[in-house]
Amino acid sequence: MMKDILQKLEEHRAQAQLGGGEKRIAAQHSKGKLTARERVELLLDEGSFEEFDMFKTHRCTDFGMDQQKPAGDGVITGWGTINGRMVYVFSQDFTVLGGSVSATHAEKICKIMDMAMQNGAPVIGINDSGGARIQEGVDSLAGYGEVFKRNIQASGVVPQISLIMGPCAGGAVYSPAMTDFIFMVKDSSYMFVTGPDVVKTVTNEQVTSEELGGASTHTKKSSVADAAFENDVEAIAEVRRLVDFLPMNNQQKPPVRPFFDEPHRAEASLDTLIPENPNQPYDMKELILKIADEGDFYEIQEDFAGNIITGFIRLEGQTVGVVANQPMVLAGVLDIDSSRKAARFVRFCDCFEIPILTLVDVPGFLPGTGQEYRGVIKHGAKLLFAYGEATVPKVTVITRKAYGGAYVVMSSKHLQGDINYAWPTSEIAVMGAKGATEIIHRADAGDADKIAQHAADYEERFANPFVAAERGFIDEVIMPQSTRKRVSRAFASLRNKKLSMPWKKHDNIPL
Ligand code: HXC
Repeated sequence: MMKDILQKLEEHRAQAQLGGGEKRIAAQHSKGKLTARERVELLLDEGSFEEFDMFKTHRCTDFGMDQQKPAGDGVITGWGTINGRMVYVFSQDFTVLGGSVSATHAEKICKIMDMAMQNGAPVIGINDSGGARIQEGVDSLAGYGEVFKRNIQASGVVPQISLIMGPCAGGAVYSPAMTDFIFMVKDSSYMFVTGPDVVKTVTNEQVTSEELGGASTHTKKSSVADAAFENDVEAIAEVRRLVDFLPMNNQQKPPVRPFFDEPHRAEASLDTLIPENPNQPYDMKELILKIADEGDFYEIQEDFAGNIITGFIRLEGQTVGVVANQPMVLAGVLDIDSSRKAARFVRFCDCFEIPILTLVDVPGFLPGTGQEYRGVIKHGAKLLFAYGEATVPKVTVITRKAYGGAYVVMSSKHLQGDINYAWPTSEIAVMGAKGATEIIHRADAGDADKIAQHAADYEERFANPFVAAERGFIDEVIMPQSTRKRVSRAFASLRNKKLSMPWKKHDNIPL
């Protein structure tokens, strides 16, 4: 008797686990995609998944839906662990009614989001859905609204990560859009507000789904997504790697990992990283890798605005967010794209108590109508604002140029940078010697010798870190080879930092 009951449960489970059935699973695989359940199994530590609402079904009776009530209603939800640390997960099942979102499908997602906020663990959403369940109409829209509300409430409370592994279109894109990170899979995922057919009708443009909203578009052009991966397996592995850097919630510090790299490790090669010619680029990533524990760097938005680098490293086993100008791309200039990219990253770090290391080699803001007309003033202000409001430990190293407004923006002492170092090769000034000379010695403009002399004088006076150091704007001029040691010790000294800002409801960052 009891055996029959248990047997029945097993049958129910087996049925639910089949989702939309063998045929649709085969179709999913033939597109190079894993099923919703396979994705969850791969994302979480083996055997750690605790599922909720496996038997939940929709309540719709219109359009013959009462004849079709698949268990689970097109989304798999629950929690499990990633390297032993808890996360909540939802994974939309495209084999069940195209993963479309009904009122009950949305309720399942909302349930785990509520639990994640209450219990302080990240939410990872795997998106693979035909959008609003057409048979349910406005009930489906209401469901999306409930999810959106929770995305907003959870923002800055627990990390939220989205994996886009199939269609994600229409208003549905706005849930991932409000999460902290979006990862896409090349050739099998897309996101757009309106699809190619509507685009064709309205604007007469002819584009494929891939061109309009594929992984390449969103990592290189729109910056909606943070990274693109070759397939589901790689994307999931990389999300696991990212989660290892992040705290569980905004009340906890990021995890501390064992490390096997001497914090005082000197890197003699850094003494010659900066080329003799100040206009010659060098690769800032080399510096990041040489500072990081075990040379491990998790880059965010690698394919967008290469003139600034953002990502996570560990120092003495502890997560540090890195923002660094990249002289190899546009001379490391700040522009609209790089300011937006870095500002969002700085704000993420500040939400979740991740200290920020800023590496500076910046010639200023990019000039031109292209920038001004598109609002570089407002977008540049985002980065300035983000640094100024960040209360996490902030350590800055100027390697070479730190000119003008961009000097102030890049986590300067003036924006409450805690410890600001400069290499002896630094040039901290209002602008480069040539530009400065042309302005303050305009009268000598025709005399090349005089101009050269003035430029040399200016360089002698300002193209160094010492004027700033004399004023205390730089705490110490350090040997490049000692950077890892100095930066590690600086962050160690800031572990108990407490800094509060004036009370406010929230700020009004220039959006
Ligand atoms: C109900 C859906 C569905 C949906 C797909 N299906 N989308 N059922 N509501 N939105 C079902 C199909 O009927 C089919 O069922 C199965 O899922 C697989 O779909 P196919 O079309 O066979 O798959 P494919 O060829 O891969 O095409 C996928 C697709 C297409 C491009 C997503 O299904 C599609 O265009 N769907 C409609 C998309 C849409 O217009 N959604 C509403 C957008 S508005 P069977 O039984 O045959 O397997 C929206 C607003 C959100 O989302 C607003 C938030 C505020």
